[in-house]
Amino acid sequence: MQNKKSPRFIVFEGIDGAGKTTQIDLLEKALLKQGVPVERTAEPTTGDTGKLLRRALSGEIPKTPEELALLFTLDRVEHNQAIEKALAAGKTVLCDRYYYSTIAYQGSASDMGWVKSLNLNCPAIRTPDLCLFLDLTPEESIQRIRARGQTAEIYETKEQLSKIRNRFLNAIKTLPNVRIVDAASSPERVHERILEVLRG
Ligand code: TYD
Repeated sequence: MQNKKSPRFIVFEGIDGAGKTTQIDLLEKALLKQGVPVERTAEPTTGDTGKLLRRALSGEIPKTPEELALLFTLDRVEHNQAIEKALAAGKTVLCDRYYYSTIAYQGSASDMGWVKSLNLNCPAIRTPDLCLFLDLTPEESIQRIRARGQTAEIYETKEQLSKIRNRFLNAIKTLPNVRIVDAASSPERVHERILEVLRG
């Protein structure tokens, strides 16, 4: 599946309930079983900028969409040092969210062209070898969120999820190395699909 000489930088994206965590777990295990070294990571990061972003996301520190776009991008530039280091050490990097999220979320709330260029034209932001967009309808997503026992104002949530999904689908059309993976089946079946994409 994997050329050991060229470790890959793989990003996972998707709306809430799409199964990013489950699929990253499964792929990490599958790669490790094959003897492929893996580094798992996520954005926002656990660094200073990532911590500031968490506080902004919770509403504790109000930020404009432009401030958020810049902060997520700064977090990414800082994160790239660790990503480069892992790749240089021969590790395949599995990353939960990357610039596809910034472009979908902050791009839609601000100027899409600006947010895109900020990320795609930044020399310190690596282009992923592959972005797996785990796609799920808002209905399926809500069923999963409910099954987890989380409470939500269903209609509001559904509307919100639908908006976010459409933003993602619009944004990723124009972004590099994206594969849309139907995330509606069992975790095992979705994992198989991901392995097929990696083999392909
Ligand atoms: P997180 O707790 O990681 O959520 P999830 O489990 O859904 O990934 O929080 C990430 C939140 O930050 C999520 O709501 C999406 C948002 N986000 C952006 O708005 N822009 C970005 O660039 C990134 C990386 C995340």
